[in-house]
Amino acid sequence: MNLYHPVNIGSLELSGNIFLAPVAGYTGRAYRSICVDEGADFGFTELVSAESVIRGRPDMKGEEDPSPVSVLLRRADNEKCYGVQLFGAEPERMAAGAALLARWKPDVVDINGGCPVPKVIKTGAGSALMKESDNLGRVVEAVVRASREHLGGVPVTIKIRSGWDSNSINYRECARIAVEAGAAMVSLHPRTRAQGYGGKSDWSLIADLASRLPVPVTGSGDLYIPEDAERMFRETGCAAVMFARGAMGNPFIFSTTRAFLTTGSYEPPDAAQRIAMGFRHLERLAADIGERAACLEMRKHFCAYTKGSRGTQGSKGGAGLRNKLVHAASIEDYRLLLHDMP
Ligand SMILES: Cc1cc2nc3c(=O)[nH]c(=O)nc-3n(C[C@H](O)[C@H](O)[C@H](O)COP(=O)(O)O)c2cc1C
Repeated sequence: MNLYHPVNIGSLELSGNIFLAPVAGYTGRAYRSICVDEGADFGFTELVSAESVIRGRPDMKGEEDPSPVSVLLRRADNEKCYGVQLFGAEPERMAAGAALLARWKPDVVDINGGCPVPKVIKTGAGSALMKESDNLGRVVEAVVRASREHLGGVPVTIKIRSGWDSNSINYRECARIAVEAGAAMVSLHPRTRAQGYGGKSDWSLIADLASRLPVPVTGSGDLYIPEDAERMFRETGCAAVMFARGAMGNPFIFSTTRAFLTTGSYEPPDAAQRIAMGFRHLERLAADIGERAACLEMRKHFCAYTKGSRGTQGSKGGAGLRNKLVHAASIEDYRLLLHDMP
């Protein structure tokens, strides 16, 4: 069986099933464009609050509007399709936020049902949506209606966790309600809100959901190397996989995973290739938000690009280099720090 294959999210036909997960602070348009270059079949913006989309509107002066909301929401130049992830708890506010996405023409609107951050859950959004599954259904319904009326009916999807905590594992119920309300895909990160990002994700829950739902289930959790993706496909029967932490500083994960799934082998990038990719990322980010802001934001990314991780051949430098990288403030600083690497 060929594990790498096309997948349909509602009316959207994707040629492959290796996705970039939404990751706050990492999956901006510059990075998504790098991932598209490396063969990602689909990617999501980070979570964006429906309220900020609504409030941001009066400030938007045109296509080149540089307001943070606008930068967060824009499609990358080479992105044939992408999803915008919204968070919020109020069905009508989520619908209003979704309707305003029309100017960015997303191909999918994804609803965040998994974020564990206090600032988000105290508003009833993110993983707190799973505590009120009736409201979760109303949110999906409202966004589906907004999509039909304002976005040409693009598919609405949802990303959830296994539940709020170990006493309330309710991913089945939440997924069923979401699909009944019109969700065209469910992504499952099988950790509870209480687990945060620690411990191990329980892939058996992805298998369980994939066997029950009439729509594609995308699996998330502990995907770091191509072999992980292959194992997730085999063990769970999910329609697609999404890389999150495993894609940070490693956009090569998309090309290597595709190679592994289709040929059985892959060539890991060496340290020099990873650093060169970091500079490509920096250039695109600087074109979007200016050199200074890009250099500050790239500190964490360069730490990731220079980190020896499973599936790469490691890199010289280590902790000492990363201590210096977190002070870099110009492209020249990065060049000086990285010029004799690897
Ligand atoms: C720093 C960070 C930010 C994240 N931001 C989001 C987000 O904006 N929206 C979302 O649905 N999930 C978010 N996630 C969850 C990931 O998409 C993914 O489901 C999770 O990290 C599990 O995958 P992994 O173990 O392979 O990293 C975030 C995770 C991390 C570590």
